[in-house]
Amino acid sequence: MSSKVIGRPYTILNVAMTADGKTDTFARQGAMISSNLDMERVDRFRASSDAILVGGLTLLGDDPRLLVKSAALRRERLERGMDENPIKVAVVTRADIRPDSRFLTYGPAKIMVFTTTQTSLSQIDALRERGIWVHITEASRVNLLSVMEALHQAGVKQLLVEGGGTLNEALLRLDLVDEINVYIAPLIFGGANAPTFASGPGLEREAAKPLKLTNVQQYDDGGIVLRYVVFKTANIEA
Ligand SMILES: NC(=O)c1ccc[n+]([C@@H]2O[C@H](COP(=O)([O-])OP(=O)(O)OC[C@H]3O[C@@H](n4cnc5c(N)ncnc54)[C@H](OP(=O)(O)O)[C@@H]3O)[C@@H](O)[C@H]2O)c1
Repeated sequence: MSSKVIGRPYTILNVAMTADGKTDTFARQGAMISSNLDMERVDRFRASSDAILVGGLTLLGDDPRLLVKSAALRRERLERGMDENPIKVAVVTRADIRPDSRFLTYGPAKIMVFTTTQTSLSQIDALRERGIWVHITEASRVNLLSVMEALHQAGVKQLLVEGGGTLNEALLRLDLVDEINVYIAPLIFGGANAPTFASGPGLEREAAKPLKLTNVQQYDDGGIVLRYVVFKTANIEA
């Protein structure tokens, strides 16, 4: 299928990785990589965003809260007329989200779930009964162009994507990313199967995404943060 995006949010990927590009250990249990200083940076990013997006395996495996941690930043959002927390958004093929998950129960926050017909009707009803906006794609995976359009229509101007690597790669492939922020921790995890920043099927050399490095920040804790702007290259296919 081929289609055009009518409108979409300004989209920022944020990733914490080791010096060897791993975003988790081979055990895939959501290993801590960010330092305290970096978590404060991410919290400020969350506070300035309208929505936070995660992929299905991050949602079901890590069960993130996706909230603004700082009470002062939440208060500032309210003073600016925003909701206390950004909208939590998940792209998940089979939305078997536990009713007592942190994703569903921590808030207050609006929640949007993009899923496929692989999610049972009873689960879709249960999510909707909780006030969650659920969008169902007929295809085997969620159509990311539709996600962007729906977020745009919901008034999302800035979208923060918090992984994982499969979702990151799919968004980059479709030219749906404007900016990348990477925290590189002074650590090595190794492991051929440990998750990386951008996984999925991968790109040929000639299809590699060109980036422009726009900022480098070095922390006293040995970590660095790189900010890149993404040049647009791809034909939009989904
Ligand atoms: N350090 C960090 O910054 C960071 C951040 C987030 C996550 N992580 C780590 O990354 C790992 C999870 O990443 P992951 O790459 O395995 O998974 P992911 O990107 O979180 O989720 C990908 C899954 O989403 C589903 N999906 C549905 N529609 C899709 C579409 N159009 N494009 C792409 N995916 C779609 C697919 O499920 P199906 O395969 O079932 O179809 C796919 O496997 C965990 O170990 C987590 O701890 C690290």
